[in-house]
Amino acid sequence: MILLITGGLGYIGSHVCVELLKSGHDIIIIDNLSNSSIHVLENIKKIVWLRKDLEDVHHHNNVIFYNGDVRDEAILSDIFKEHSIDAVLHFAGLKSVSESLDTPIEYYDVNISGGINLLNVMKKEKVKTIVFSSSAVVYGDSKSLPIKESTPLGDIKNPYGYSKLFFEQILKNIYQSDPEWKVAILRYFNPVGAHPSGRIGENPNGIPNNLMPLITQVVMGKLDEVKVFGSDYPTIDGTGVRDYIHVVDLAIGHVAILNKLFSIPVTQVFVVNLGSGIGYSVLQMIKAYEKIVGRDIPYSITKRREGDIAESWTSIDYANEFLGWRVERNLHQICLDTWNYEIKKLKKND
Ligand code: NAD
Ligand code: WQD
Repeated sequence: MILLITGGLGYIGSHVCVELLKSGHDIIIIDNLSNSSIHVLENIKKIVWLRKDLEDVHHHNNVIFYNGDVRDEAILSDIFKEHSIDAVLHFAGLKSVSESLDTPIEYYDVNISGGINLLNVMKKEKVKTIVFSSSAVVYGDSKSLPIKESTPLGDIKNPYGYSKLFFEQILKNIYQSDPEWKVAILRYFNPVGAHPSGRIGENPNGIPNNLMPLITQVVMGKLDEVKVFGSDYPTIDGTGVRDYIHVVDLAIGHVAILNKLFSIPVTQVFVVNLGSGIGYSVLQMIKAYEKIVGRDIPYSITKRREGDIAESWTSIDYANEFLGWRVERNLHQICLDTWNYEIKKLKKND
């Protein structure tokens, strides 16, 4: 198939590109490089094309890159006219909860207007299959655990979360209006880790907000200590619990959903939670990372971060039943691959 990947040079999109190429698909990437670098493109190609066991694959599949914005109708139209795209995987977007509180217009512009622009062009060009990157943020502070796809949504406190919820709703309405659309909404839990090759991974600008990149920066000596946000939650050790999923497992989940969309009659919008099904606390994450690096990671307990919830993890029943998919990489592998990526980056910069 020929697939359009918006935001394909970003953290999750780049890992999905690798898995799609490995599965024999051709990919077209559009990314405005607002949160990624052109080097990622070369690294995606290297990972796939240097695989000895896949010598013949690179003769068949192709990667084309457009430096462009999903809000730009002209470039999207050109891409659809130039290539006979079968489906779109839509990753392009802004993703920081805290930033979205300061710049809501930008968040709605990219995540909603950009998305609508994409859907408009898809409709015009009669490409009606889309996989959308949503987030566990749409469940808000759910007290019922594990979180199932049927768990009520809501209690969202930031523009980022609303942008995901609204776009999900837009997709559901489009399907209602025209059942020829094939729509899959994937709700990611906490994506972490990096490709085991060490060629692609998470590269946040400035001081990261998320736990794993933060621990990594402390390990690399860029920050003094991890600030643990609260130790008085009703959890195993008082610190926040989350469902961390290795980004390669997450990427493989996208191949599985695409296969489904093209192999069964689509009679509804599919909504699937992608997570490991296991919750780990902040302190458990720090300890797991310490085992990999072989030394203590300094941390201190500070007050709770506003808007944080105590715990969140998914039920994996539906993903497993429907997609035949479940994670294969554990916390040890997550920490190992994150660390390996950092070491490789360091060596390159030497
Ligand atoms: P990312 O920032 O690494 O990747 C997004 C990519 O989109 C970047 O390469 C960026 O340059 C590009 N982009 C941004 N605005 C664009 C625009 N207007 N036009 C074209 N390209 C644009 O983020 P990620 O972690 O890979 O997340 C991908 C998607 O998954 C996002 O939609 C995000 O909301 C969602 N998601 C991420 C997480 C997470 O924790 N990483 C969790 C749940 C959902
Ligand atoms: C994890 C745990 C913190 C930083 C966010 C978004 C969510 C999704 C993933 C996009 C929590 C604790 C963190 C720190 C800490 N993104 N923590 N010290 O908040 O679960 O989810 O990213 O869709 O939408 O909300 O992830 O990595 O920020 O936090 O103690 O310096 O680590 O309190 O318990 P979160 P996170």
